[in-house]
Amino acid sequence: MPDLFSLIDRLEREHSLSEAEYQTLLENRNEALTAELRERAVRARKAVYGNTVFTRGLVEISSFCKNDCLYCGLRRSNGKAERYRLTPEDVLACCREGWELGFRTFVLQGGEDGWFTDERLTPLLRQIKAEYPTCAVTLSLGERSRESYQRLFDAGADRYLLRHETADKAHYERLHPAELSWAHRMDCLRTLKEIGYQVGCGFMVGSPGQTEKELAKDLKFVESFRPAMCGIGPFIPHKDTPFCDQPAGSVELTCYLLSILRLIQPNLLLPATTALGTLDPLGREKGILAGANVVMPNLSPVSVRKKYMLYDNKICTGEESAQCRGCLSARVASIGYELVTDRGDPR
Ligand code: 5AD
Ligand code: FES
Repeated sequence: MPDLFSLIDRLEREHSLSEAEYQTLLENRNEALTAELRERAVRARKAVYGNTVFTRGLVEISSFCKNDCLYCGLRRSNGKAERYRLTPEDVLACCREGWELGFRTFVLQGGEDGWFTDERLTPLLRQIKAEYPTCAVTLSLGERSRESYQRLFDAGADRYLLRHETADKAHYERLHPAELSWAHRMDCLRTLKEIGYQVGCGFMVGSPGQTEKELAKDLKFVESFRPAMCGIGPFIPHKDTPFCDQPAGSVELTCYLLSILRLIQPNLLLPATTALGTLDPLGREKGILAGANVVMPNLSPVSVRKKYMLYDNKICTGEESAQCRGCLSARVASIGYELVTDRGDPR
């Protein structure tokens, strides 16, 4: 039995372990290790970010998707999914409302919807940046060509979120149809970084076929890729997908991974995700207490929120969620942290 506490020590000092060592940490997860990692992660996070929590206003611009990922409720084969797309005017209205609420970052996220061509997106980006020159705009629109990523960057996009989903090729192939390629996903991430975006990668925790071995690879990948942000959340089955009967991921394991990621890269932007809040009413608070430092409240028009169902029982989709920012600000305060009005760039 390796001395697990000395592994944590070394992780904290050197921000690096071997893949096998990450696997050991994962396979031997227990309460004492969890508490130790959490304490050190919180310390690392406080040294860089104090008790501030960054926020981004999430605008879900389209539920159309040409892809057929086996886990996702928006997959093209799901005939029951309700499809919508926001007009550029709708998106601008969300940003205006968001700015008033104190958001300084807007995340435009959507399925891979061919309607959102560069010709439609670039004027929208320019207009958002013209109205709010000090805001940051994040795109999360899936795989596009290098030329497209470049045009969107030139039009003002600052950041791009593209989860790698899993750093293991065979596992990727279990989660996606053959037409999607792990190598291409990884190429996209490298391209985005080369262009100059602040890049966010990420993965689901507890997706079908995932073991500690795959998760160790994810950790090693994040360690070497050095993203600005890494989004992780538990897998949650969606009733109208091939994975409908698969078990959901674990909140505890997600939090454990958040602590490890914080020690791998102390300045990493780590969101406490909506999926975490969906599986556990206090999931996002637990995520922050494990080392996360970002929350992404929903800023989409309430009228479309139920149509952006990646997984079952997604929170923040009812009328009562009209103002997620206020809700999250109170939640964050309740655990001794502070939601700030800031672009939230990595330090
Ligand atoms: N459970 C949890 N997360 C999911 N995502 C998609 N479907 C699910 C699901 N069923 C995540 C993926 C994707 C992001 C937008 O949402 O990681 O990249
Ligand atoms: Fe959306 Fe609480 S964060 S309702």
